[in-house]
Amino acid sequence: MDIEDILQRGQQQVAKAEDLRQLDDVRVGFLGKKGELTALLKQLGTLDAAERPKAGALINQAKVTLQQDIEGRKDQLQQQELAQTLAADTVDVTLPGRQPVLGGLHPVTQAMYRIQDIFTGAGYQVVAGREIENDYYNFAALNIPSHHPARAMHDTFYFSDGTLLRTHTSPSQVHTMERQAPPIRVICPGRVYRRDSDLTHSPMFHQVEGLVVDEDISFADLKGTVTDFLQRFFEKELQVRFRPSYFPFTEPSAEVDVQCVHCLGKGCRVCSHTGWLEVMGCGLVHPNVLNMSGIDTEAYSGFAFGFGVDRLAMLLFEVDDLRLFFDNDLRFLRQFA
Ligand code: DAH
Repeated sequence: MDIEDILQRGQQQVAKAEDLRQLDDVRVGFLGKKGELTALLKQLGTLDAAERPKAGALINQAKVTLQQDIEGRKDQLQQQELAQTLAADTVDVTLPGRQPVLGGLHPVTQAMYRIQDIFTGAGYQVVAGREIENDYYNFAALNIPSHHPARAMHDTFYFSDGTLLRTHTSPSQVHTMERQAPPIRVICPGRVYRRDSDLTHSPMFHQVEGLVVDEDISFADLKGTVTDFLQRFFEKELQVRFRPSYFPFTEPSAEVDVQCVHCLGKGCRVCSHTGWLEVMGCGLVHPNVLNMSGIDTEAYSGFAFGFGVDRLAMLLFEVDDLRLFFDNDLRFLRQFA
């Protein structure tokens, strides 16, 4: 038998294999099912019984040797391939990287955060309201009974089951008083909805409601709070004035004007040459409202205010068209990132 011969040829072919594929072909040719060394093993039966063990041992030895050679060569070839790939795939570390695109907060969100910071800094809690309300919370509990003309001004979106999209954040006053005993000091920011859409109105807009209920709350507390807030929000010592007004849920009621942030009172396009900007409604909470929500009007009084956030954001960022806030035009939004 030519075991030595076969082994030698095998070893030569292993050494000559240039890649892993060729190497595997060699393995199959010698060690596979129909390989040469395998064939030798199958022929053992034709030998004399006395020679079989020795021949068997030799063949097995040859198989092990060749297998080891194959493993060794395989390692070499793998190293080579790796080295080649590394050489070919070089990275040019001097190329400029790709910058991730960073988003930014929407200007209305930024204004909201600014407002919340100011009020939480003054000890207010921020409460979440509901966007879907019913007649009681949006109107009746705020001293707006069904025949009241104020309802007409609200242009309400109704659902078929009698619920509605809140037209203002004031219902959160009622929820808060039902839930919590005085002292109360909360703001409620959120979306509100009215059937209204033109240059200066969007059917969805944002308001912040404020409510304070405690012992001995007076109009002076309201004036101080509102003035302080507006001066902090615009970061200017702006003058603030209170004009008598009417809201069903407050008595007395006032509308608040702030000195024009653009011309500082001289008169310009932003303030329609009046020098003033109308920014919010407020007043002392009407006793009917306190009573309906279970607050003892002998012991407590309160003030409330409500304002539009989009308008404050327009003034803060000097944006002159409300619709820009809701168009989602990245060229516009990127300027606030
Ligand atoms: N809810 C009123 C509106 O949407 C704004 C308002 C006025 C809220 C006076 C108040 C307030 O809390 O006291 O027009």
